[in-house]
Amino acid sequence: MIRHIVKTQTFTTDFMQEVFTLAREMREVVRKGGDGSLAGKIVATLFYDPSTRTRLSFESAAGRLGATILSTEAARQFSSAAKGESLEDTIRTVQAYADLIILRYHEEGGARRAAHVSRVPIINAGDGKGQHPTQSLLDLFTIEEELGQIEGLKVALIGDLKHGRTVHSLAYLLGKFNNVELFLVAPQGLEMPDGVISYLERHDVSYRCVDSLRDLVKKEEVDVFYQTRIQRERFDDAQLIEDYEDRREEFMIRRDLVRMMPQESIILHPLPRVDEIRYGVDDDPRAKYFVQAENGVYVRMALLKMLLS
Ligand code: CP
Repeated sequence: MIRHIVKTQTFTTDFMQEVFTLAREMREVVRKGGDGSLAGKIVATLFYDPSTRTRLSFESAAGRLGATILSTEAARQFSSAAKGESLEDTIRTVQAYADLIILRYHEEGGARRAAHVSRVPIINAGDGKGQHPTQSLLDLFTIEEELGQIEGLKVALIGDLKHGRTVHSLAYLLGKFNNVELFLVAPQGLEMPDGVISYLERHDVSYRCVDSLRDLVKKEEVDVFYQTRIQRERFDDAQLIEDYEDRREEFMIRRDLVRMMPQESIILHPLPRVDEIRYGVDDDPRAKYFVQAENGVYVRMALLKMLLS
């Protein structure tokens, strides 16, 4: 049994199926108005970086199950981190107040450091440009719900693959399913990091690097288009932003491009989006990113049940 949720490489397909089965049950629990199965438990959300979906969906999940929520958003500003307290000391303190800690940290490795000192479960809610494992679970859950399977799918990961923690976690997870084919669609300079690529190679995952989304749509019958935001706040090279600005249109999902996509394909995005999926696409039946955001509640309820029951 997994004690902390830190990175996706450690997940087995059995674990994922257990989460998905429970998430389906949790959807029914929500439809019936929630239950009190985690009454008496306390969940802390400790967020050092901004969030809408992850923090609120975890808090919604905990609330639907009757748990009490302690929350610190903007922890760099409003927790004692502002006075110089280390992450480790904060975790050693909060573990005395809560049965589980959901942590978003601004630096890669934050969740691993927290898990190292914590006696209560730590859930990584995103650590810098590292990973976002619960996002990937809800992404895969959405794919399975919408397409009925994960094995054998052709999946395009699009955008800022260098800084996007959701695509790192998702690539590791997709690599655990048979015959999945990945297309890594990124502007020059924002390609998937070497660490993820070498994992895919070590595990014989079929992947191809592509630098034109339009060409890919013309040539391949892709099942899942997973778009991501360009993470400007993580750029350390201003030239990269300028280079990207010149080519950004080529990586956008617009209605004319969607018309060329297979009818049975789906378009996902971890959100927030800026303009990389145009608003005009939202009405297309293939656009599933808000369903995906809703699924986050069910998957996170399942994880809370598994770690706290
Ligand atoms: N997908 C995601 O992590 O969104 P938030 O940053 O709003 O939590």
